[in-house]
Amino acid sequence: MQVNLRDSWWIREIEIPTRLVLAPMAGVSVQAFRRQGRRFGAGLVCSEMVSCAGIEHRNERTLGYLRVGGDEHPLAIQSFGSEPAVMAEAARMVEAAGADLVDVNFGCPVRKVTKTGAGATLLDDPGRACRIVEAIAEAVSIPVSVKMRRGLEDGSRVCLEVGPRLVEAGASALTLHPRSAKQMYPGEADHSLTTELVSLVDVPIVASGDITSRARAQTVLATTGAAAVMVGRGAQGNPWALREIVDGDVSEPTREEVAAELILFVRETVRELGERRASGFLKKFYGWYLGRGRFPRPFKQELVQLETTDEVVTRVFAAAPDAAEIVERLEAELPDPGAEILLDRMPISIYGGG
Ligand SMILES: Cc1cc2nc3c(=O)[nH]c(=O)nc-3n(C[C@H](O)[C@H](O)[C@H](O)COP(=O)(O)O)c2cc1C
Repeated sequence: MQVNLRDSWWIREIEIPTRLVLAPMAGVSVQAFRRQGRRFGAGLVCSEMVSCAGIEHRNERTLGYLRVGGDEHPLAIQSFGSEPAVMAEAARMVEAAGADLVDVNFGCPVRKVTKTGAGATLLDDPGRACRIVEAIAEAVSIPVSVKMRRGLEDGSRVCLEVGPRLVEAGASALTLHPRSAKQMYPGEADHSLTTELVSLVDVPIVASGDITSRARAQTVLATTGAAAVMVGRGAQGNPWALREIVDGDVSEPTREEVAAELILFVRETVRELGERRASGFLKKFYGWYLGRGRFPRPFKQELVQLETTDEVVTRVFAAAPDAAEIVERLEAELPDPGAEILLDRMPISIYGGG
């Protein structure tokens, strides 16, 4: 049976207008990425993982991740950590920042995170994982979701044991990326585990991993019974993939559209991170946008070598002058940044450092 990707679905009382979720990706999921994802059809967007210890210590950069624009809803903010009480405190801050959902990371395979007992290692300590979810669910009134891998080792099926326990502990939705932590990203995501997990719990399941086309999204939704699909790497520098998945629109973007999306992305990211951080952060995006035969290879290399983002914007405009009109239209649609950010509702000032 074909699933309509434009149908809405619910995580408890939160209505999600399409069946496509934009994946949380560290070093990628800035506000510009989330906003763009929404414009191209994502029904739910997610922050990258935020350290609960960073929140607890009122680390200024960490708290910057809690900025929520008024046009980003519904939005999940993801946190990682291993201490139930600290995770609960971080979740309170996430709620106060205006997030619609608090998502918990039980999937990160990176050593820097796992060695602290957080991320995917929690799949090997289900008691602690459940205490974390319980503590968060008690601390906040917004729904709690969990994102996890299949387990730590290749072939592991531990997600099928842990998943139902997390639901019992208070999770209102689960996202499964059915690769092992050891596997990192190579190899295929085994969505037969997603099918099994769907049959074990009565909360919505989001299927993450290798969703790169409408055909794949339809197959995974129909065969697993998942409520939604999540798209990660396929959307990097390529929001048009989201449009193809949600609406079946296969038209390739024009050179001007690509240039305009990149310029908007650069400008918004500079506003969010500041020029110094943004200029390094953005370099990987140039290849992602300009690749796929859209612009000649040396052009990307030229952009990467430029020092300031102003120079990048000038150079991209020079290569596609008609992009200016599109950028102007897109910028006019952005909310007034001062009016939209809810940080003043938070218990501390992000600049005061607590
Ligand atoms: C660069 C990168 C950063 C990621 N960061 C996070 C993260 O912060 N939190 C998380 O739950 N998953 C993270 N993931 C995993 C993705 O959310 C997603 O589950 C995974 O990439 C599989 O989906 P895909 O095949 O569509 O990329 C990251 C993935 C990538 C490639």
